[in-house]
Amino acid sequence: MIEVSGLTKIYGQRTAIEDLTFTVNKGEIVGFLGPNGAGKSTTMKILTGFMPASFGTAKIAGFDVFDQAIDVKRNVGYLPENPPVYFDMVVEDYLKFAAQLHDVTKANLKAAIDLSLEKTGLTHVRKRIIGNLSKGYRQRVGLAQALVHDPKVLILDEPTVGLDPVQIIEIRELIKSLGGAHTVILSSHILPEVTATCQRIIVINKGKIVAQDNIERLTSRMKHGLVYQLQVKNSNSSGIQAIQSISGVKSVTNENGKISIEINPNQEELRDRIVDVAVHEKMGVLEFSSEKLSLEEVFLSLTTQETNVGGQS
Ligand SMILES: Nc1ncnc2c1ncn2[C@@H]1O[C@H](COP(=O)(O)OP(=O)(O)OP(=O)(O)O)[C@@H](O)[C@H]1O
Ligand SMILES: [Mg+2]
Repeated sequence: MIEVSGLTKIYGQRTAIEDLTFTVNKGEIVGFLGPNGAGKSTTMKILTGFMPASFGTAKIAGFDVFDQAIDVKRNVGYLPENPPVYFDMVVEDYLKFAAQLHDVTKANLKAAIDLSLEKTGLTHVRKRIIGNLSKGYRQRVGLAQALVHDPKVLILDEPTVGLDPVQIIEIRELIKSLGGAHTVILSSHILPEVTATCQRIIVINKGKIVAQDNIERLTSRMKHGLVYQLQVKNSNSSGIQAIQSISGVKSVTNENGKISIEINPNQEELRDRIVDVAVHEKMGVLEFSSEKLSLEEVFLSLTTQETNVGGQS
């Protein structure tokens, strides 16, 4: 339903996204996960035909986002980073306006508005002025305008940012309920957000895709990145250095003999080697255990491989 190939955007001298290639299948909810400045909004603006790419192609529902922009707009609902919600308008009037912008025919207008109000749980506030609604409800109005023309694809840029925890849960549930009937791509810089709502994650950092997989596979793939805990009687510095210099060891921290050793992925066989070194260094091994990296840490390790993450804004 969404096919992106070699997508690149250069703003002046700055490459915002570089050679992105991914697809999203019909009915899927995919999370576009990355820290600030990763290129999430840039990608979404290109996918919605809001601005052109520098290189590469993107197709939505078979239509090219550059050459067939009108067809694309008809098939896409977009919730931008800053939703274009007019504060002094009444909810249902705003949705009527949004529907007309998307060429919903006069005959279908009322049904389209009613359905989008119903889907977003806004029916009871349809006569209210948008500016008087809570932030969570205003966000629902943003979602309702994205939905009003019943698009095949929904592109939601950080849909829960700035909401309180209760509103966040409500919006996540709402988004989940839209999968199947719609193909959804949502961006976030918060890992639990995508694990709560999405079936698949595309991790983007500094304009490049660093991982894309379903959540289970991503977790299991990353489980191999391990942290070993080594408890010793004598945490002498030559011993610590010897462990640090084992090839495949990523980092070593020592707190009064409680040594945490982070291992690069797929290096499980290092276990014996570490113990050997500790024994050889006469550290007095008391305990040795492993701790799986949480997905949260995996995300951090994925997106902080290079310095200056989030430094661009
Ligand atoms: N109009 C622009 N002109 C120049 N550079 C831009 C422009 N828009 C974005 N950028 C740069 O492109 C990069 C990607 O920005 P983008 O807004 O796509 O990131 P993002 O992942 O959406 O970040 P955030 O989580 O902060 O919303 C950043 O380095 C940003 O400074
Ligand atoms: Mg953004």
